[in-house]
Amino acid sequence: MAPDSPPSSAVDDAFYQAADSFFPAQQGVALTYDDVTLATQYSEILPRDANLDTFLADRLHLHIPIISADMDTVTESRMAIAMALNGGLGLIHYNMPERQQLSEVTRVKYHVHGLIQEPIKVSPDQFIGDVLSLIEERHFSFSTFPIVDDKDRLLGLLPGHVVRPRYAARKVSEAMMPRSSVQTIPESELQPDPIARADKFFNEHVGIHKLLVVDSEDRLRGLFTLSDIERITQEKAAPLKPSRDSQFRLVCGAAISATRNSTGELDQDRIIRHIGGLVERGVDVVAVSTAHGFSQGVGEVVRLIRAAYPDLPIIAGNVTSASAVEFLARCGADAVKVGQGPGSICTTRIVAGVGIPQLTALYVCAKAAESAGVRIIADGGISKSGDIVKALTLSHAVICGGLLAGCPEAPGQIMEINGKLYKQYRGMGSPAAMKAGSAARYGHSRDTTRKVASEGVEALKEVSASFESVMTQLVGGLQSGMGYLGAPNLPALRARARFSRITPAGQRESAPHDIV
Ligand code: XMP
Repeated sequence: MAPDSPPSSAVDDAFYQAADSFFPAQQGVALTYDDVTLATQYSEILPRDANLDTFLADRLHLHIPIISADMDTVTESRMAIAMALNGGLGLIHYNMPERQQLSEVTRVKYHVHGLIQEPIKVSPDQFIGDVLSLIEERHFSFSTFPIVDDKDRLLGLLPGHVVRPRYAARKVSEAMMPRSSVQTIPESELQPDPIARADKFFNEHVGIHKLLVVDSEDRLRGLFTLSDIERITQEKAAPLKPSRDSQFRLVCGAAISATRNSTGELDQDRIIRHIGGLVERGVDVVAVSTAHGFSQGVGEVVRLIRAAYPDLPIIAGNVTSASAVEFLARCGADAVKVGQGPGSICTTRIVAGVGIPQLTALYVCAKAAESAGVRIIADGGISKSGDIVKALTLSHAVICGGLLAGCPEAPGQIMEINGKLYKQYRGMGSPAAMKAGSAARYGHSRDTTRKVASEGVEALKEVSASFESVMTQLVGGLQSGMGYLGAPNLPALRARARFSRITPAGQRESAPHDIV
């Protein structure tokens, strides 16, 4: 042995096995997270240095491998913003009108922008009332707008403090700040670092919050806001980097289902129109989310999207078999969601008698994914950070529903019961969620007069202190696991994982015990 090569022992190799020895030896028995434990390994890394970056498609890079579930009690724009700001991804659910889903995506993409390359503009002939309607319709969280003529030349700025109902009948031209008072910078002066240039400008101009970018003919080319620049400069020092697209906007995903028309055929026109809207709003990935991804309909939808949008990252699922992964990969998916029935609100296994415990499903699917060149996402059943470590030994990211549903950022009201605070958390296959729109996900029509078997329950989650505290626990736990395995990054975690089964006595030993 070379003097500084890591110590190893054949005894360890016999008892703590790599996935390719361990799982085939358990054929016929399906295992989940609590059935196994991971052996610790020689380590040269500190947990805090473990790198969590993951690629789910060529154009989809996350800084942490955690995705919030496309469920109507988990992910709308607030959760998606929080996830992206912490380096992950939110998948906006589809239990809402399509137009509303587009607005939710817009909110995420407009959240913190650096240079906003296509600012929303108004014309001098509009009324303030028109601007108020625009803000309401598109759910904008800002109310200051540049004013341009029909050639995009800058005429002035409509400041937020005049965009009020009391001035609704006034024309924009009456209330605007004139061109001569608007602070601008020529586009040619932005390089090499536009954010640093804008930061310098705001330092030098006390009290100015907006900086407009113009070209040599005074046409509007972009907008910086002080709050965006401050957030971006603070982020540079933060331990978790936000997930951003190539234009420095937060990343955002949206889920869709295999929508059918009244005759039961796939509604191709509607699906393509909807995806077109999402792409226009800047969506970074679409997830074709159904309970049974190994089906003709899901395959057709994935093929349809791939043909229309060759570069758009696509997640598809859910599946639990190697042939299903190969099928979805052939149809054009970049990443495949694995999980049928593990979710904390799922009753699929009870109702339909199907589904495979998560670790075995992940191993089987990961084998196919390797040769098919797609990524695997472990969806459902994650109830603690240790499960994330185990899931990532066989996958590239995890999807969490229940772990995030109690956060203030999840949709829904907080309710108090016996002095404790709760939020609703329901399965997308629960009766109420299906009625609200998700029936197609479970292969049912939305016709609420027909009785269908539900595959999920409605429940409550205790409200979490804050999103940050939940993420700190999850990310900290994942990094600890990587430290114990000596894995500096996620590919190393997958390579270094050594498994052992544990018995019910071992499970008891693994949790706090014999204490008051
Ligand atoms: P967790 O365990 O994180 O699981 O709460 C979230 C995942 O569960 C799936 N899901 C369902 N599965 N019936 C099911 O069988 C349902 O009603 C249901 N709703 C959500 C989904 O994959 C989600 O990400």
